[in-house]
Amino acid sequence: MTRKPVEYTEYLQLEKILNAQTLESDKENAHAHDEMLFIVIHQAYELWFKQIHFEIDSALTIMRKDAVNDNSAELQTIVHRTSRVITILKLLVQQIDILETMTPLDFHEFRDFLRPASGFQSWQFKMLEAKLGLKFDERHGQQYYLSMLKPEYVQFVKEVESQKTLLELIDDWLKRMPFFNDAQLWANYHTPNTNDSGYHAFWNDYLNAYASTLVEGEKQNIETFEKIFLSEHKSEHTILSSEAMRNALFISLYRGNPILQMPFQLMQNLLDIDEQMATWRFRHINMVHRMIGSRVGTGGSSGKEYLQGALNKHYIFKDFAFLSSFLIQRNKLPELSPELKGRLGFGF
Ligand code: HEM
Repeated sequence: MTRKPVEYTEYLQLEKILNAQTLESDKENAHAHDEMLFIVIHQAYELWFKQIHFEIDSALTIMRKDAVNDNSAELQTIVHRTSRVITILKLLVQQIDILETMTPLDFHEFRDFLRPASGFQSWQFKMLEAKLGLKFDERHGQQYYLSMLKPEYVQFVKEVESQKTLLELIDDWLKRMPFFNDAQLWANYHTPNTNDSGYHAFWNDYLNAYASTLVEGEKQNIETFEKIFLSEHKSEHTILSSEAMRNALFISLYRGNPILQMPFQLMQNLLDIDEQMATWRFRHINMVHRMIGSRVGTGGSSGKEYLQGALNKHYIFKDFAFLSSFLIQRNKLPELSPELKGRLGFGF
């Protein structure tokens, strides 16, 4: 069978895409030139959101396996695709520059025709937050969900919320790390400390080294450290379990070892995703302030105030940023046992 030759316009379905800009102002016989830009920008955002979902979904599929092989292409694939997400998010931040070429007066020419539509109704955006790990209970302005989103879109987001999020899968993955489960890996570990805290010798040493770096006013960090990393139960300070936090800190400290480089890169990528999303939120708030001042949003929220609350509250991977409170200088790091060092290298 001969294949029909592919044609550019058909392949990209440009007929549909290029005819999908209908100006509300034209319907009212009040043509507003900048409404075209407003529509195109939003459509471009939604297309990029689609691509981000595609990348994150592929990462989730790998992470859902019983065991991600840290020494295989799987982890590299996740790192590569999350890096792509970061690059797309950077572009999405920059796109605000283009929309800001529209002045508030130009916006007012068509803004009233858009009510009660709002960017808040971008279910792809809400689904992305949910997929990454933002739970409904942690959302700022929950009441707007029911007032602004159509019931079927609330349902879309709920379905995502009912599945394991990227953050939860990362928790599982970190918990599975074998560093402290295998006594053999510590058989020849030399500890300089004789005090018996009841903790694993390595963590006892690390805690001693960490305590020696704290200045007056930081001493309470020792207790926080114990709660976050050494308790059997998850602390109130973090979303991740203490086992996952312990392994995440270990990876950050010993990331120079070949096996830990990819896991460290993944943690960095998740922080970058949070940072780019927060940067977008911040730029969006400034744009909103510039366009509508302190007026309420077309969707009916308090506008800038709601968005500021979401910015402050919607960091998803903040536990990884929190790790920085518990680092020490490299030259104070406990020396690992030869067995563990061997496992963290590229063995042949
Ligand atoms: C003139 C430009 C814009 C203005 C004045 C504006 C205004 C607002 C306001 C006031 C809200 C709060 C909800 C409401 O009451 O409506 C909001 C939410 C939102 N907007 Fe925009 N927006 C603009 C452009 C954009 C663009 C280009 C996007 C890209 C997709 C976007 C995406 C969103 C999203 C995703 C939310 C929900 C954010 C959250 O819940 O954290 N907005 N916008």
